[in-house]
Amino acid sequence: MKIVSQPEELAQFRQTLQGSVGFVPTMGALHNGHLSLIKRSIAENDHTVVSLFVNPTQFLPGEDLSTYPRRQEADLKLCRLAGVDAVFTPQATAMYSIEEPILCAPDTLGYMLEGLRRPGHFDGVLRVVLKLFNLTQPAHAYFGKKDAQQLYLIQNMVRTLFLPVSIVPCDIVREEDGLALSSRNVYLSPDERQEALKLSKALKHASRLVIQKEFHAKVLERTMQETLAPLHVEYARVLRRDFTPLERVELGNTLIAIAAYVGSTRLIDNLWI
Ligand code: PAJ
Repeated sequence: MKIVSQPEELAQFRQTLQGSVGFVPTMGALHNGHLSLIKRSIAENDHTVVSLFVNPTQFLPGEDLSTYPRRQEADLKLCRLAGVDAVFTPQATAMYSIEEPILCAPDTLGYMLEGLRRPGHFDGVLRVVLKLFNLTQPAHAYFGKKDAQQLYLIQNMVRTLFLPVSIVPCDIVREEDGLALSSRNVYLSPDERQEALKLSKALKHASRLVIQKEFHAKVLERTMQETLAPLHVEYARVLRRDFTPLERVELGNTLIAIAAYVGSTRLIDNLWI
C-alpha cells in the first residue's frame, strides 16, 4: 500500500494506475462506517484510494478541530488490511494556499439544517472534496448517507460543475443497538452513549408511524421531539430528499433528519423513507 502526503505525488501516482479508481475521502479515525465505503470501493473498482485528512476549512472557530480524534497508525493498518492501494495523508499547508479561488456551497442548501448552525462548513467540505477529486480523478467516489446534506451538496457540485465522477451513496452503518457509527462517538461517556440512542429511536418511531399511515410531517416532527426530550435538539425534520419542505411524507422521496446534542457532543442521524 502506497502512503502519500504530497498532493503532486498523489497526482503522479494516479497517472500510473490503469483501470478504474474508487475514492473514499475521510477525516480518519476510521470505524466500520468508513470501512463499509472502503470495502465497496474495493469490490467495484480496480484500485482504491483513501484520504485521511482532518480538513481545517470545514471546522468553524470554536469547533473540535484541535481535539478531533487522530489515529493515523491504526487507520493505515485498517486500510492495508482492507486492501487499499493508496492512502493520502496531506498536511493542511500542502492543500491550501493563502490566495486561491474559493468554492461556496449554494446559498439555500449550504445554509440550512447543518449549514445553519455551522455556516461555511459546507464551503470547506466542497473546497476540499473538489481538490481531492482533481488529485485522484476517480471513476467512483463513495459517501455515506449518514451525512445526507453533505452527500446531496456533493452530488449537486458534481452535476453543476460537470465533474467526471460518479457519486455512490452508501447506507448508514449502525451499532447493534441502533447508534449510527461516528468518529465523534468517542466523546460520549457511558451514560451519554445510552442517551445518544434517542436519535435512532426517534427515527425508528417516526418510521413506524409512517408504516401506520401517519404521513403528516408536523406530526412526525412533534413525535420525534418527544422521543428526543430532554436532549437539546437542533432540528428534527421531515423533508424531501432534495431538502425542500413537505407537508406529507412522499414514500421513496423523504428524508427524516435529526441533529441533537448529547452533553456537549453534537450528533446527527437520518432515515430515508
Ligand atoms: P468523515 O466524517 O470522516 O466521513 C467520511 C465518510 O464516511 C463520509 O462520506 C461519511 O458520510 C461516511 N460515514 C461516516 N459515518 C458513517 C456511517 N455510520 N455509515 C456509513 N457511512 C458513514 O465526511 C467527512 O469525513 C468529511 O466531510 C469529508 C467528506 C472527508 C471532507 O473532509
